[in-house]
Amino acid sequence: MEYKDLISTALKFREQAYVPYSNFKVGAAVLTEDGSIYGGCNIENASYGATNCAERTAIFKAVSEGHKVIKAVAVVGDVSTYTFPCGICRQVIAEFADTSIPIILIKNEKEYIVKTLEEVLPGAFTKQDLNK
Ligand code: THU
Repeated sequence: MEYKDLISTALKFREQAYVPYSNFKVGAAVLTEDGSIYGGCNIENASYGATNCAERTAIFKAVSEGHKVIKAVAVVGDVSTYTFPCGICRQVIAEFADTSIPIILIKNEKEYIVKTLEEVLPGAFTKQDLNK
């Protein structure tokens, strides 16, 4: 799988982050089953708990456009190390993805590492557990 477009999309959407409280910009991109890519950023709120992470913004954009199968997720934070998806985002990814999909953790255009969803969320509770 070619990660170049996912990485550039995550980096591009990080610039759209609305972060007046944390000042921590995050960008994300998701690849759907037909090869389309959706980008997202974190969107904060004065009521802090209403904040939406970049990964969920990207996933909700894809799902709301009719793409319910996610084949890869890329994420970039605002630090010199890698930013991993938060627990809520890992759970949301698991709703729409196989456990084997790559989660691409980006440091910059050239440096990234890849984990599987199973590695970052072992033993996920999913719709299979509800027989759905
Ligand atoms: N954030 C994300 O957008 N994705 C993550 O995976 C980690 C956290 C955002 C939420 C909040 O706007 C800021 O980073 C600081 O927590």
